[in-house]
Amino acid sequence: MSIIKLLSKKLERTIFTTPTHNQKAIFSQNYDCFYKDDFSEIEGYDNLSNPKTHILMAQGKASDIMNTKNTYFVTQGATVAILAAMKALINPADKVLVARNCHKSIFSGLVITAGCVDWFMPETDKSWGIYTKINPKKLESTLQLNKYKAFIMTSPTYEGVNSNIKKIAEICKKYDTYLIVDEAHGSLYNFSDILPQTAINQGADVSINSLHKTAGALNQTALLNINKNIRNTDSNIFQKALNLFHTTSPSYPLLANIEACLTYLNSKKGYDEIQNLLLEIDKFKNELKRYGVEFFEDEFHDPTKLFLKKDGLSGFDLSEFMYKDFKIEDELNNSIGCMYLCGIGTTKQKLEKLKVALKKIQTNPSFEPIYTEFQPFPLVKIQPVDTFNRDYIFINKQDSLLKISNKMIIPYPPGIGLLYPGEAIQKWHLDYLDKDVEVII
Ligand SMILES: Cc1ncc(COP(=O)(O)O)c(C=O)c1O
Repeated sequence: MSIIKLLSKKLERTIFTTPTHNQKAIFSQNYDCFYKDDFSEIEGYDNLSNPKTHILMAQGKASDIMNTKNTYFVTQGATVAILAAMKALINPADKVLVARNCHKSIFSGLVITAGCVDWFMPETDKSWGIYTKINPKKLESTLQLNKYKAFIMTSPTYEGVNSNIKKIAEICKKYDTYLIVDEAHGSLYNFSDILPQTAINQGADVSINSLHKTAGALNQTALLNINKNIRNTDSNIFQKALNLFHTTSPSYPLLANIEACLTYLNSKKGYDEIQNLLLEIDKFKNELKRYGVEFFEDEFHDPTKLFLKKDGLSGFDLSEFMYKDFKIEDELNNSIGCMYLCGIGTTKQKLEKLKVALKKIQTNPSFEPIYTEFQPFPLVKIQPVDTFNRDYIFINKQDSLLKISNKMIIPYPPGIGLLYPGEAIQKWHLDYLDKDVEVII
């Protein structure tokens, strides 16, 4: 089917995925603007690569709102904001410590910057099958052993787990290591006193937000935030890095959408919408807990990520039945549970629909959960920068043990790498590999 035909069909399902805006314009934007306001950088409209007037003002306002030294608008997703942050702070051969539950864009950043990676394993929760927090003590022991230019981590995780950034930022500062926090999933934090604090307000040097995930903005809108107290950086280095990756034809409708989104979130209306959403989520959870639904919760958990399991069903089964029987689609599922994502645009009616379905869903009393093993510590044989254009051959999976992979294994979502090019294939990986495996020679 053509894309045009596909989009002309009504979406006959309820989606709890990104973006959360419910396919409705929440702030002053609609589809017409894509044609009406679709300019290149014509006279009088400023220029994203060297902003001097309107864009500079809008970004300045954003930086006041976000409490940053600079907040840059990005129209190519958190991915480009991450690449720019890495390019600005990491030089070839710099050692970089990266939490293994990072998004795949960080591997791209390692290829582009030629930084040398050491992986850092976050804590895990086996009963939910997810990565959780960064352990500050373990981080400090790692930073004592080696000098790292930067530590890159994700907080919140896809499932809403937040690390103690304040503590982590203190440790990174002590060892003169930049802290880059991928806060793609935490774009609402600056606008609520119930949600966790932003990474920037807790001391991260740089943070990245995807406004399109939960903040009601359009796909590809993102922010790159720089801390007021960042050490030893050229004040123009982030703009310079962004200019390496940003299109020279940024979309004005997307730039306006970013501005409108931040203005809305920073208003009483935006604040109230988040408060009401959190209230509705609280009621939703309290009611469903009486129907055999268990929610993932911990200290600093972001409640807008409804990661839940139902007694008597695996996450895979729950996801399938919810889709088949109720036409409700989750953002993510694993062998234990499903994650239903909420944010700006998630209505009470939508939550009600989810609640009714979760109450009704049939379960199997003899079901036993299967707890999957987490990936082993990665064995990096070739640094990311040297893996990009290598000669490779295909070999039989049975013969691939300890050979060096030329491919990534990245289930999406969440886009966390199980194996990257340059890493040795371990026994654990075999289940995820095709019959013929691409290895570097
Ligand atoms: C943690 C995390 N970081 C970054 C990204 C990339 O975001 P974007 O799609 O805005 O480029 C994603 C996307 O799923 C993500 O989950």
